[in-house]
Amino acid sequence: MTQPCTPRVVPLAAPVASPRDRFARPLRDLRLSVLDRCNLRCTYCMPGDSLMGRGVFLPREQLLTDDELIRLVRVFTGLGVDKIRLTGGEPLLRPGLVGLVDRIAATPGVHDLALTTNATLLPRHATALRAAGLHRITVSLDSLDPEVFPRMSGGRGSVDEVLEGIAAAEAAGFRRLKINTVVQRGVNDAGVENLLAHFRGTGHVVRLIEFMDVGNLNHWSAEQVVPSAELLRRIHARWPLKPVASETPGETARRYAYEDGAGEIGFISSVSQPFCGSCSRARVTADGNFYTCLFAARGLALRPLLRQADDDAGLRDVLLARWHEREDRYSEERGKQAPGADPRVEMFRMGG
Ligand code: GTP
Ligand code: 5AD
Ligand code: SF4
Ligand code: SF4
Repeated sequence: MTQPCTPRVVPLAAPVASPRDRFARPLRDLRLSVLDRCNLRCTYCMPGDSLMGRGVFLPREQLLTDDELIRLVRVFTGLGVDKIRLTGGEPLLRPGLVGLVDRIAATPGVHDLALTTNATLLPRHATALRAAGLHRITVSLDSLDPEVFPRMSGGRGSVDEVLEGIAAAEAAGFRRLKINTVVQRGVNDAGVENLLAHFRGTGHVVRLIEFMDVGNLNHWSAEQVVPSAELLRRIHARWPLKPVASETPGETARRYAYEDGAGEIGFISSVSQPFCGSCSRARVTADGNFYTCLFAARGLALRPLLRQADDDAGLRDVLLARWHEREDRYSEERGKQAPGADPRVEMFRMGG
């Protein structure tokens, strides 16, 4: 029988004034990639044909340990971060993830703890994740068509597995899941309405994401991007929509509600309508590199600091200094990258 989940009382931390970067953007969100491996090979993220075989993924000893991750969370919350997202690769492949969730959820100052997953392993872990204190789950799902899905997942996993994962999350008590759908012209764009029809009325929120030029391997081209405005027109013609105000500053998605009351959807339009102006997101890769933009090429190696000394104040100063000098706004400057610039970090390392 499923155990009832009693909300845990987490000690409240006093509000902290966030540091500001060069454009006065606060540091609010921390996205931790806990593992760079995945059981799928989505063509836009980890294209199987481009992976160079052995040595692509991090060896275990280079991954931050749970203790190191907890220390990072403690230091970041001390800097005003109150929102944490665990990503990958596929985070549920990390051994002991539930224990890590439990410890992060219990850290003072963590008000929102979310997980991005492809859902295939949720039947095994959803109940334990809920009991450990995970607040929210975001599921990646690009198509409900059994032929299109494997074209985008590199032939791995299936629609049924993802739907079973979603059902497991619902059964465990997670409500209002977010369903992230990367839309690629000529690949899955024709199936968008089907996907929306499936989730209308469930309380889950589908977000349609413009295919982005993250990393270097996904053969991105502007022609494959379906601008959100085009999708919005199409969807509005079938199910009239009305805009919904953002809940928090810095949200990635522009939100719309179905006028007939069947719920809400979102558009993440990083290509056609960049949202760098309010970007408050910091990222740390599974091996402990700190990045201040999804499209960054260079990070700051935190692992040596975490392994050398037990000095939270020193770590805090390093992070603060990096945030103060931050001036990333890649999506707003897209196309202006200097020739010969360093290769960007791949999405499966950076985390979505
Ligand atoms: P919520 O906390 O639920 O609002 O989630 P979120 O929208 O911050 O995070 P999520 O991981 O669900 O983001 C959805 C997608 O938006 C990601 O998979 C990326 O494709 C894209 N995205 C997220 N953050 C950024 C960002 O900082 N810049 C850009 N360009 N895209 C982003
Ligand atoms: N463009 C847009 N979104 C992407 N994601 C991964 N690669 C891309 C890309 N090239 C997002 C997907 C997935 C999450 C882990 O990262 O939404 O759900
Ligand atoms: Fe795995 Fe997610 Fe990347 Fe797909 S998008 S390969 S599920 S990490
Ligand atoms: Fe933030 Fe970089 Fe994305 Fe702009 S492109 S919203 S700065 S992560």
